[in-house]
Amino acid sequence: MANQLLAGKRGIIFGALDENSIAWRVAEKCHEHGAKLTLTNAPVALRMGKIQELGTKLNSEVIPADATSVEDLELLYEKSMEILGGKIDFVLHAVGMSVNVRKKKPYDDLNYDWMQKSLDISAISFHKVMQTAVKMDALSDWGSVLALTYIAAQRVFPDYGEMAEAKALLESFARSFGYHLGEQKKVRVNTLSQSPTRTTAGSGIKGFDDFFTYAENMSPLGNADSDSCADFCVVLFSDLSRMITMQNIYHDGGFSSMGINPRALTES
Ligand SMILES: NC(=O)c1ccc[n+]([C@@H]2O[C@H](COP(=O)([O-])OP(=O)(O)OC[C@H]3O[C@@H](n4cnc5c(N)ncnc54)[C@H](O)[C@@H]3O)[C@@H](O)[C@H]2O)c1
Repeated sequence: MANQLLAGKRGIIFGALDENSIAWRVAEKCHEHGAKLTLTNAPVALRMGKIQELGTKLNSEVIPADATSVEDLELLYEKSMEILGGKIDFVLHAVGMSVNVRKKKPYDDLNYDWMQKSLDISAISFHKVMQTAVKMDALSDWGSVLALTYIAAQRVFPDYGEMAEAKALLESFARSFGYHLGEQKKVRVNTLSQSPTRTTAGSGIKGFDDFFTYAENMSPLGNADSDSCADFCVVLFSDLSRMITMQNIYHDGGFSSMGINPRALTES
């Protein structure tokens, strides 16, 4: 049995679609560490994905919520507090989607209606998740709110399209809301910048295999996988990280600090 770093804590996990999802592994690890959870995803993902399977496995209720709908989020918090028996100690936002990326639209030929949708789903939803929690007083003091992001917010990855701007906005919301939630409730807000990971969202990006291999060869430790990401999420939800807030934390095997790795030249 793992150390019970999250014993007695109540959490909401967004974004587990299937067993490849980062959120799937995070939910499993949080459960192993003693947390009580509710799982949520968009109604369409509940129909197409396997989240119910995860709910059964972890004995966790699955509550549908479109992360862009404040009404859905209100219901999610209301039901989660009722089911879990109190305020929420941690939230994982693992939500991302871009129709432009999915349809492989080049960066200089983007559809702006789709861009609005991308920003709403992938970034503004994070603000909604926090603002709704504030209005409902749904978070425990010293809680932890975390979103998953990617280094394309800081550096150019041409095929990541407008998701680069979505991630930049997401990270900015973490800093700005981190101030408010810190002052109000001692709640911390961070983003975890993860290595390329083979998931439904990840594999939807043009040339994903190439930049997965490139990052693998650039990073002294190699790419961080979902399992190690989940371990780190557990730490970020636990009291061990209670003074870390308003940070974008790289979880990438060292990729973000590299200039050139000779291995990337010889093995690409
Ligand atoms: N896979 C990678 O390489 C990688 C790297 C860095 C960061 N991330 C981020 O990790 C997070 C999780 O993605 P993943 O790679 O595990 O892929 P994934 O496809 O398994 O997860 C994305 C999730 O977002 C959900 N979603 C989409 N629209 C939604 C909506 N309107 N409401 C609620 N949920 C919605 C999907 O149903 C899905 O469960 C995303 O934010 C992604 O950008 C992924």
